[in-house]
Amino acid sequence: LVKQAWLNGVFLAADEAKLSPFDRAFLFADSVYEVTAVYDGRPVDLDLHLDRLARSLRELGFTSVPDRAQLMQVHDRLIEDNALKEGYVYLQVTRGAYGGRDFPAPSVERPTYFAFAEARALIDTPTARNGIGVITVDDIRWARRDIKTTGLLAQALAKTEAKRRGEDDAWLVGSDGFITEGASANAWIVTADDKIVTRDLSTIILAGVTRARLATSLAAAGLSFVERPFSREEALVAREAFATSATTLVAPVVRIDGVRVGSGLPGPVTRRLQGIYYTAIGADPGKAAPWLTEES
Ligand code: PDD
Repeated sequence: LVKQAWLNGVFLAADEAKLSPFDRAFLFADSVYEVTAVYDGRPVDLDLHLDRLARSLRELGFTSVPDRAQLMQVHDRLIEDNALKEGYVYLQVTRGAYGGRDFPAPSVERPTYFAFAEARALIDTPTARNGIGVITVDDIRWARRDIKTTGLLAQALAKTEAKRRGEDDAWLVGSDGFITEGASANAWIVTADDKIVTRDLSTIILAGVTRARLATSLAAAGLSFVERPFSREEALVAREAFATSATTLVAPVVRIDGVRVGSGLPGPVTRRLQGIYYTAIGADPGKAAPWLTEES
């Protein structure tokens, strides 16, 4: 359980954090969030997360801009107070509460700020070692998936259905048959001719920070990747598949709708990218991810 929270400028015990039911996040999902990985006691790519937060707020027409330096301090303090080595910090900004239920946004904003930290293994996990199984479900979300809002019902339903079917997560399929992304991660495959492929950025997916960091790191390692849509059918016959997010980093996907991907074990390209990503965030893969070297 989370012990501590930061709410509207105040650090307090998590069970003392109280919010008005008139908050527009509660009434309209009028709110955005970020989840930033923490490794070795430091936030990973916090700059990119805060850039994306500012963009999400701008796209929704928020007029108030959160103080970046303050948000960075809040992350540092939550990490310190919770003695966090590995885990994540959650940050949410809502348009606030105005004592009623008016659809139009108020002209003068009083946003709500909320954050907390949670310890959690990110690198040495069963997910990273063994991979996960995903189901595919129709992508029934709204059209602006590039904005990281807390309107997450479609994702919550997809993950619930995955669990009900005994799998770990869900990938979402657009009405055109192409996979958009995971329920809370970007989706990647390695094709039969060894191309690393992930969906191109647009309003229909979230521009993942992990995706961006992996993209620059793999380029620096002399690898290339292709940004284009791929279908569920192409994913089913891919050599490898994996997902990237702040909470699972680089997660091998070894099963899609009950069908084994490639050998059914995390593949060599995914393993290499895990090593590259862990190194990029300051980890020593030999120590932090011993299974990577045990295998080769
Ligand atoms: N989700 N796509 C979706 C729909 C997501 O919700 C997320 C992240 C990502 C990956 O983005 P990033 O690499 O910046 O984490 C892609 C977070 C982790 C969550 O909702 O918990």
